[in-house]
Amino acid sequence: MFNKITFDEILEGRRALLDGWGGRPGIIIIGAKGAKLRDSEGREYIDCTSQAFVLNIGANHPRVIEAVRRQLEETTHVVYNLDSIPLLLLTRKLAEIAPDTLSRVNFCLEGSLASESAMKLAMKNRPGCKYFVVFEHGYHGRNLLTMAASWTDPETPFSYFKENVIKVPEAYCYRCKFNLHYPSCNLECARFIEETIEKHRDGGVVALMMEPVQGNGGQISFPSEFHRKVREICDRQDILLIWDEIQTAFGRVGKMFAAELYQVVPDILVFGKAVAGGLPLAGIMTRDNLKVFDAGENAFTFAHFPLSLVAALATIEVLQEGQLLERCNRLNQHIIHHLRNLQKNYQIIGDVRGPGLAIGIELVKDRDSKEPAVKEASEVVRLALKRGVMFGISKYGGLGNVVKIKPPLVISDEEVETVLSVFEQCIAEVQRHG
Ligand SMILES: Cc1ncc(COP(=O)(O)O)c(C=O)c1O
Repeated sequence: MFNKITFDEILEGRRALLDGWGGRPGIIIIGAKGAKLRDSEGREYIDCTSQAFVLNIGANHPRVIEAVRRQLEETTHVVYNLDSIPLLLLTRKLAEIAPDTLSRVNFCLEGSLASESAMKLAMKNRPGCKYFVVFEHGYHGRNLLTMAASWTDPETPFSYFKENVIKVPEAYCYRCKFNLHYPSCNLECARFIEETIEKHRDGGVVALMMEPVQGNGGQISFPSEFHRKVREICDRQDILLIWDEIQTAFGRVGKMFAAELYQVVPDILVFGKAVAGGLPLAGIMTRDNLKVFDAGENAFTFAHFPLSLVAALATIEVLQEGQLLERCNRLNQHIIHHLRNLQKNYQIIGDVRGPGLAIGIELVKDRDSKEPAVKEASEVVRLALKRGVMFGISKYGGLGNVVKIKPPLVISDEEVETVLSVFEQCIAEVQRHG
C-alpha cells in the first residue's frame, strides 16, 4: 500500500504532526504480531508496553482481524440511536460478564471521554453535590475535566475544573505519606480519606474516583484491605465509587476485571484500551439501579462503531476461551520472583510490584533515602530499546522512575526470558555508570 511513498514524504508528515504526547523515539512501526513490533528499518521489538496497554491479546489477533474483516463487508458506521447486531450482542456480553450488578453499558471511543462520562453519570446520581475525591497520582485522561482529576504538572494551563477536585494520598506503601508501614499503619490513608470526605459534607462529594491499580502514576498496586476499606467509606458516606479500569480490565491483572481480583464492586466501572483487541473502544458499566442519562446528555457521533464492537466481542471470546488469564498469573509469579532475585544484586531496584502483567519496578539512587532514579529509569528504557525490548516508564505522578513490564498476555516464554535478560543487562549498565 505504501510502496510508492518516499522517505522524504514520510518525514514531511513527521514535521506536520502536531504532537500532544512527547518523547517520540523516531521509530516508524510497519507491522506487529503477538508481542512483537517491526519497524521500517527491519528491526523487531518485544513490546512490554502493549502499545499503551491496549494489546492484551496480542497485536493482530486472527480472531479480531477476521471479525473486523467480516463486519467491513456489512457496515462501518451506524448512528448511536439506531441499533445494530454488534451493539446489542456486545452490551449483552458485557452485562453477562460484568462484576455483580454493573450491567448497564455505555460506549464511546476514548478512555478520557469514558472517564468523563462516569463523572457525569455520578453527578446525575448525586444532584447538588460538587466535589470529586481523587488520588494524588491518579490518571483519568486528557480532556479538561479528567486532567483536573489527574496528576498534572503544577505549571499546566489546563486547570479550569480543579476547584471541584479534592486530592488525597493513595495507599502508596513504598512511599507512605504518613511515614508508616503496612499493615501496622492500620491504613491511616483510608482514615484520612474518610476525614476529608466528611470535611466536605457542606458542598457534597459526588464520588471517589480511582484506578484500582494506578498505572501512569507509578504502577502502584494497593493492599486488598485498602480497597475494601474504601468501599466501606463510600457506603458510609453515601458517595459513589468510580473505578477507572481503563488499564486493568480485560485480562491485564490476571482476571477479566480488577473488581474480581480485589472482590470489590464499584458503582461505576470505566473501561477502554484492551477491550477491543487494538481497535478504539471505551465506555462505562454501571450499577443497574443508578439513574441513567437523559436524551442527549452523553451522545457522541462515533459512539456506535461496529468495527470496534465486533472486535470487542472477539477479544472477550479469546480471553474467555483461551488460557490467557491463567497464563498472565503464571507469568506474574515467574517475573516477580526473578525481579526480586535481581533486587538482591542491584541496589538501584527499590521496589518490585504489581498483579498480573501490570508490573512496576521502582528505581532509586539509594535504598535508604529512596531518592527517585529518574534519569536512570529513562536510560534503562533507552538501552533496552536498542537491544530490541520496549519497556514502559511512568512519567506521571511527578516521579518518572518506574519501569513497567506490561506485555501482551500472549508473550512467549522465550520472549519473557529475553525481556528479563535485557532488563538485567540494562540495569547492570546503568548501575555501573551510576
Ligand atoms: C487509567 C486511565 N484512565 C484514562 C485514560 C485515558 O484514556 P485515553 O487515552 O484512551 O483517552 C488512560 C490512558 O492512559 C488511563 O490509563
